[in-house]
Amino acid sequence: MDCTLGGGGHAEAILEATAPDGLLFGIDRDEEAVRRAGERLKRYGTRVRLLHDGFKNLGTLLKTLGVQGADGILMDLGVSTLQLMDSERGFSFQKDGPLDMRMDRRSSVTAAALVNSLPEPQLLQILFEYGEERWARRIARTIVHERQKTPVTRTLQLADLIRRAVPRSGRAQRIHPATRTFQALRIAVNQELDQLTGGLSNAASFLNGGGRLCVISFHSLEDRIVKRTFKALVRAEPERIRVITKKPVVPGPDEIRINPRSRSAKLRAVERIPDAPALNVSGTVC
Ligand SMILES: C[S@@+](CC[C@H](N)C(=O)[O-])C[C@H]1O[C@@H](n2cnc3c(N)ncnc32)[C@H](O)[C@@H]1O
Repeated sequence: MDCTLGGGGHAEAILEATAPDGLLFGIDRDEEAVRRAGERLKRYGTRVRLLHDGFKNLGTLLKTLGVQGADGILMDLGVSTLQLMDSERGFSFQKDGPLDMRMDRRSSVTAAALVNSLPEPQLLQILFEYGEERWARRIARTIVHERQKTPVTRTLQLADLIRRAVPRSGRAQRIHPATRTFQALRIAVNQELDQLTGGLSNAASFLNGGGRLCVISFHSLEDRIVKRTFKALVRAEPERIRVITKKPVVPGPDEIRINPRSRSAKLRAVERIPDAPALNVSGTVC
């Protein structure tokens, strides 16, 4: 089960590794990603079933499909390179485009809607909590001030406004001054942390004996949720679930050289213990 199809790279690797008869269910909130992955994976025929949805609804989705359990579940969080490179999606502060950032375009709330309508305290909270942005107060104040003159509708317009809001010392950092604000808005627009919390518990309950749930996260907020949820799962059912990554697996220098976007990736995994006793309906171990 690939919960974050993106460009379909992992899905393809899973299909190769499970040949000749492994079955892959793939989902993505982004309709365009599902379409492209469908093209890429066409040659695997009926071994692939793709769906357009968020993984928070994984339990309902799998039940509807009649799937009882999975031998492997993968979540590779965040945005895909395809989404970042497409300026019309509004994820990148380096390319001009509409300030959109919706992974699922059926959803009605765009980043522009949040930036132009939220009261300053709520905007501040988003930048602070989801971006861990040191200059959140200055940025929120500048946005609210500027939007009274002209609505903020473009990515470069927002990036420039942030650059002006941040003091000179803050601009000299390793990362672009707009990085954290864009991350924060993206998380808010897509309710990413809520999706993650729901999706993780849903996914763990669908693991077959010996099955593994693997999650790749890209920033500390996500990684904290993954780590805590895994701990809670083990605490609740120590005879069924175990963590198999004491420390997160991170890319080595060679991988970072080939794929610089992997530099902040952390992989954590849990396993449903093979032959663990099944749960009866009241939730006690039989
Ligand atoms: C980092 S990319 C995945 C790349 C993919 N593993 C590959 O090999 O190309 C993340 C993808 O997950 C999707 N996504 C993020 N959050 C999601 C969620 N809650 N439910 C479903 N898809 C999600 C995004 O739309 C994006 O396409």
